[in-house]
Amino acid sequence: MKKRIVVLTMAVLFGLSAVACGSDGGSSSGGSGSSSGTESSGSGGAGTVANKDKPLVWFNRQPSNSSTGELDMAALSFNDDTYYVGFDANQGAELQGTMVKDYIEANIDTIDRNGDGVIGYVLAIGDIGHNDSIARTRGVRKALGTGVEKDGNIDSEPIGTNTDGSASAVQDGSIEVNGKTYTVRELASQEMKNSAGATWDAATAGNAIGTWSSSFGDQIDVVVSNNDGMGMSMFNAWSKDNDVPTFGYDANNDAVAAIGEGYGGTISQHADVQAYLTLRVLRNALDGVDVDTGIGTADEAGNVLSDDVYVYNEEERSYYALNVAVTADNYQDFTDSTKVYEPVSNQLDESSHPSKKVWLDIYNASDNFLSSTYQPLLQNYDDLLNLDVDYIGGDGQTESNITNRLGNPGQYDAFAINMVKTDNAASYTALLSQ
Ligand code: BGC
Repeated sequence: MKKRIVVLTMAVLFGLSAVACGSDGGSSSGGSGSSSGTESSGSGGAGTVANKDKPLVWFNRQPSNSSTGELDMAALSFNDDTYYVGFDANQGAELQGTMVKDYIEANIDTIDRNGDGVIGYVLAIGDIGHNDSIARTRGVRKALGTGVEKDGNIDSEPIGTNTDGSASAVQDGSIEVNGKTYTVRELASQEMKNSAGATWDAATAGNAIGTWSSSFGDQIDVVVSNNDGMGMSMFNAWSKDNDVPTFGYDANNDAVAAIGEGYGGTISQHADVQAYLTLRVLRNALDGVDVDTGIGTADEAGNVLSDDVYVYNEEERSYYALNVAVTADNYQDFTDSTKVYEPVSNQLDESSHPSKKVWLDIYNASDNFLSSTYQPLLQNYDDLLNLDVDYIGGDGQTESNITNRLGNPGQYDAFAINMVKTDNAASYTALLSQ
């Protein structure tokens, strides 16, 4: 008993000295990726807790089978402090589909550019093996009536080109407005993967719209994309100059600003809530408090989320942020995607939440959403939560490019992982189990 008190006292003293070192402008530097590590030793835990027992959060890419979508529960319940943080893909997909359909209906007098009675759209697909991308393709096809059922769900395969309406993975839909019926046709869709293998590739989408517009020109009335990176690339390359409404997903700053210039709309996946949850579940585990602290239950600094911005699915060990449509009606409220969410913006006290060291990777350092929205948010929250985060950027293609940089997990108190491929969780957990 006595011995324990001594150890605890030393830990407290050690923690205090770490606070003192870190206080002269030394909270984590964010993006540099290689902070000195002086503050991090405040944990005292990194050396004593086995890596396999340290808090682990998967984010943005949910451990799952990339062919069937089935969740990888072994990865999601790797230890008692393992969670996933993402967003509600189906709710967001339905919102995106409805947003496009509402736009078509509201602009029916001008939308059919060549007046042939067919509303033609093209679709940029992010990653055919990523549940969120699949959900968005399905959501658009469902809302526009172009989806075809396959194995009990809407087929999400890219179709290549379909100007004559004969593709088998989609069908022609119809929309009735003011007593007149219009055909809706998916003219083309393609996975935007570059030759090196990176998915959600904006440059590939910019090239694709060039090819599509020169082949079917004014048959294209609407452009839809699984995300804003690809959507903005198509908007800048073609649709802006041709007044063709273009819809994306993510509510990145550039896309929201472009709504004022004719970008049709986007979906906010509440990255401000996700980035907070990503780090907060780690903070709670490191503090040894209930995981709901500062989430559904207010913490002592007043941080709390209301249940209209997230859901927790206990069986899936997953937190899902809820999505909001961003259109010409409300985009002024979304102009800064990197701003922390006000209800969870209160600084934690460093004496009761001492600095801890976190290893975090972004699967692709040039992913538009993760680099321009998610990571800046994480960097804002890491300070508020007293977490000293090392940010590792991958190349978007090679898992080992990232796992190679998890060579010394013993240096860290917790891990936040964004995989290249959702099937690859075991290549990370194997390193933590050694
Ligand atoms: C975003 C995409 C991003 C992807 C990366 C998605 O949630 O919407 O923009 O490329 O995550 O995994």
